[in-house]
Amino acid sequence: MKPLKVGLLGFGTVGSGVWNVLQRNQGEISRRAGREIVITHVAARAADGSLERARAQCGGATVLDDAAKIVRDPEIDIVCELIGGTTVARTLVLEAIAHGKHVVTANKALLANCGTEIFAAAHGKGVAVAFEAAVAGGIPIIKALREGLSANRIEWIAGIINGTSNFILSTMRETGASFAEVLKEAQRLGYAEADPTFDVEGIDAAHKLTIMAAIAFGIPMQFDKAYAEGITKLTREDIRYAEELGYRIKLLGITRRVEGQGIELRVHPTLIPEKRLIANVEGAMNAVLVKGDAVGPTLYYGAGAGSEPTASAVIADLVDVTRMHTADPEHRVPHLAFQPDQLSAIPILPISEVYTSYYLRLRVLDQPGVLADITRILADQVISIEAFLQREATHGEDEVDITILTHLAIEKNVQAALAKIEALTSVRGKGVLIRMEGLL
Ligand SMILES: NC(=O)c1ccc[n+]([C@@H]2O[C@H](COP(=O)([O-])OP(=O)(O)OC[C@H]3O[C@@H](n4cnc5c(N)ncnc54)[C@H](OP(=O)(O)O)[C@@H]3O)[C@@H](O)[C@H]2O)c1
Repeated sequence: MKPLKVGLLGFGTVGSGVWNVLQRNQGEISRRAGREIVITHVAARAADGSLERARAQCGGATVLDDAAKIVRDPEIDIVCELIGGTTVARTLVLEAIAHGKHVVTANKALLANCGTEIFAAAHGKGVAVAFEAAVAGGIPIIKALREGLSANRIEWIAGIINGTSNFILSTMRETGASFAEVLKEAQRLGYAEADPTFDVEGIDAAHKLTIMAAIAFGIPMQFDKAYAEGITKLTREDIRYAEELGYRIKLLGITRRVEGQGIELRVHPTLIPEKRLIANVEGAMNAVLVKGDAVGPTLYYGAGAGSEPTASAVIADLVDVTRMHTADPEHRVPHLAFQPDQLSAIPILPISEVYTSYYLRLRVLDQPGVLADITRILADQVISIEAFLQREATHGEDEVDITILTHLAIEKNVQAALAKIEALTSVRGKGVLIRMEGLL
């Protein structure tokens, strides 16, 4: 059979990884795919030196600085979009689809924001859009959710799906350094970008969670309804207190079906009991827990980013698309796991309606009656206390930290209680509120 021809858009971290792994494992990959997969065209940019790099490395391929030419080239079967962003990438992907090409992409921002439009266009043209690399890098979590777990009613997913944040939190806990200090180190080591906003503010994780929720529950992409809170306000004190209470703090993406009400879709720092496997996922690694009603909890662990781990997922998609290239579009695995006319309109719950338990730290005056005032406010909002920790005031100090762990409570009540507690004259400054998950 003729080789399948791929046009690679972008020769950065992932693009160059795809080229290298495909060259290295060509024989093995062809044996799996049933025919050869060849990158015939590469689009790169002069500005960041990728054009020059691609020209030096990609012998046999045509290297261009105009990606639009590749998406229109009738010779190309699959367009592999690895440039990132939601503007140029969106135009190129839609144009590739309009020209009847399958698309493989690692671009979570693009799919979380424009997935509905892109999948509809692909469906209309009878082409596939594959995106294994868009969530958790090298971990085949899309395949697991879409195919391996298709017997199940998925109950919830909880994942460490941003390696940069996990690296920062692990290092803060191990070294006792502050967020700002560790971020600087992460940037020096290449674990964080010069502008780390998407990673440390939970936006990148919310993109990935949006995609997983769509596949798990058969709902459209709804990134605009996701709650995203990052790690920038976490202090070493809270990481230490959490540890004293037997917990680790992780940036988790959580999506959960709440029967009769809706779907939770939230990213935030979360206290997890330290004995849980997911609490021990350290450094830049990723892990995703999925609970299905039949299979129970399952855990997927591995490198969530990096040139070759991500290329591993991109090439798996190229193999998949190659295998089904000649298949009737109606017989393919649907993009979002459920048939396009079977997507459900289950609402996404606002964070104010979410039930979880909480870690609350307050700086208070060390005097009688303070605790009674705080517990009364909590009780008025139907919030019960599970554990309590107070440090003894050191000599000469008239303020102490108290830490309260609550049982399950609804977020809007907890926020209302916190506002009242912060208004007490015996409470200093703002309280620290971190959500907890004991059931993972
Ligand atoms: N890095 C990872 O570990 C990882 C993991 C999972 C998913 N992803 C996703 O994979 C995609 C690529 O990420 P990356 O880390 O490889 O990014 P990257 O290293 O910045 O590479 C992207 C490359 O594409 C180039 N480019 C931009 N617009 C172009 C155009 N119109 N034509 C040709 N080249 C163009 C960029 O050049 P300029 O710099 O000049 O713009 C850059 O060389 C993103 O969607 C990202 O979210 C990355």
